[in-house]
Amino acid sequence: MKVVILDDADAVASYGADIFREQLQAKPASVFGLATGSTPLKLYRELIESNQQGDISFSEVRSFNLDEYMDLPPEHPQSYRYFMDEEFFKHIDIDRSNTHVPPGNADNPLTACREYEGAIAAAGGIDIQLLGIGRNGHIGFNEPTSCLASRTRVKTLTEETIADNARFFSEGETQPQLSITMGIGTIMEARLVVLLATGESKAEAIKAMVEGPVSAWCPASALQMHPATVVIVDEAAASALS
Ligand code: F6R
Repeated sequence: MKVVILDDADAVASYGADIFREQLQAKPASVFGLATGSTPLKLYRELIESNQQGDISFSEVRSFNLDEYMDLPPEHPQSYRYFMDEEFFKHIDIDRSNTHVPPGNADNPLTACREYEGAIAAAGGIDIQLLGIGRNGHIGFNEPTSCLASRTRVKTLTEETIADNARFFSEGETQPQLSITMGIGTIMEARLVVLLATGESKAEAIKAMVEGPVSAWCPASALQMHPATVVIVDEAAASALS
């Protein structure tokens, strides 16, 4: 695990974006694992700018998102499909049919999870998996106590995660309690993992991930066993490291 500590969130986004730009130059038909949340937004904006300037193209890229809420239609503004379309896909030259988000409203979630795994394998596996991290050390929606070998499946969200994400839902709106998420085992198969974290609220999770024992209590700690993980953090997110 390589840990890169930079001054601020802008520097974190640029460092991360450079990894994607280099990958695209080396392999235009790359397979990317993507994340939602606030952390990757600046990185997506950098990649959008590079794409619009003609420096990189996503025309041959296939993407697989980490997770999706259960029972939200894709057009719901809080669905991760909607987020990805609005924040990234509609601004770049990616073919939307090459973008995949776990089907949170599938009639048969078990089959849908198996098919999602199958689609990743059929694409040749993930070249770069982009990750954020939850304050409780979750990656994707793999909450503490998740099996470190888990595959794509339905997961119950913890109260902490539900509370953290409540800000995105209007008052009185029913907030999903279940998600479909790639498993930790799925994430561990990516050839390169790029995890971004910014701000002091992530400092304890970063410490547990980097310096703590490998444990299901901090799902991100499994990445200590991954052969090629780059953790890119700002000073605030690095502030609890020894
Ligand atoms: C998002 C995801 C989550 C987030 C994490 C951090 O697809 O899988 O694990 O990466 O909750 O969220 P932010 O970036 O909003 O702090």
